[in-house]
Amino acid sequence: MNKTRPIAILGGTGPEGFGLALRWSQAGETVIIGSRDSKRAQDAAEKIKQRAGPSAKISGSENVAACRAADLLVLTIPFDGHAALLKQLKPAIRPGSIVIDATVPLAASVGGRATRTLGVWQGSAAQQSAELVPKGVSVVAAFQNLGAELLNADGPVDCDVIVCSDDPSASQVVRSLATKIPGVRAIDGGKLENARILEQITALLIGLNIRHKGHSGIRITGLPPAAYEVG
Ligand SMILES: NC(=O)c1ccc[n+]([C@@H]2O[C@H](COP(=O)([O-])OP(=O)(O)OC[C@H]3O[C@@H](n4cnc5c(N)ncnc54)[C@H](OP(=O)(O)O)[C@@H]3O)[C@@H](O)[C@H]2O)c1
Repeated sequence: MNKTRPIAILGGTGPEGFGLALRWSQAGETVIIGSRDSKRAQDAAEKIKQRAGPSAKISGSENVAACRAADLLVLTIPFDGHAALLKQLKPAIRPGSIVIDATVPLAASVGGRATRTLGVWQGSAAQQSAELVPKGVSVVAAFQNLGAELLNADGPVDCDVIVCSDDPSASQVVRSLATKIPGVRAIDGGKLENARILEQITALLIGLNIRHKGHSGIRITGLPPAAYEVG
């Protein structure tokens, strides 16, 4: 479905954005890594090409240029830079775009613990995005609970991705994109306000990883088969 829609990953030089870019490149999607520094973005794209193969459709550019070249935009940046980056990107975001927010407002982004989240006035990082994007742009919360270690490893991941948005068709596009990552089942998690809960779960997973020395993810059981289909 997304073969013709390039995906720009803003902050794609970090482990989370890099891992998503790797998986989508391996699935044949067109991906643009965004960074504050175009050289850093190009270097990351080159590393992905080495892993995904020479036919991978991956490139790197500065964040605003990456944003101009795509209408599927993924935010994988620390929360302390979230609002400022969205304000910078705003004039470059095309009408009808989908902003996929994987940002977690971890206290670590302001010097606190990675096992705690910050209170966000709007309710969540994703809801903050919804307030900052231009009218006609849909925000979808996803991938907060899919860790970078798993994305950057080889082979399928053992994780579900819960997708929350107030725009059902944008949610469907993102669920389809999520299932391009081998092992992922994508589940409609309802309205964007539920992003608050997804973001909290990440802090819990980080705590479990520290306590048990692993790379945890989540699986949702007990729903009818249709809940695990993109539709
Ligand atoms: N790591 C995980 O396992 C994981 C899992 C789920 C969700 N997340 C969330 O996904 C986001 C990214 O995680 P990460 O571990 O990849 O983070 P990260 O490495 O700390 O940051 C990702 C990239 O964001 C850019 N960046 C850093 N500070 C910035 C600022 N103030 N303004 C604009 N860009 C900035 C940097 O790229 P440039 O310097 O190249 O611009 C950096 O490489 C976070 O919100 C995190 O909570 C992470």
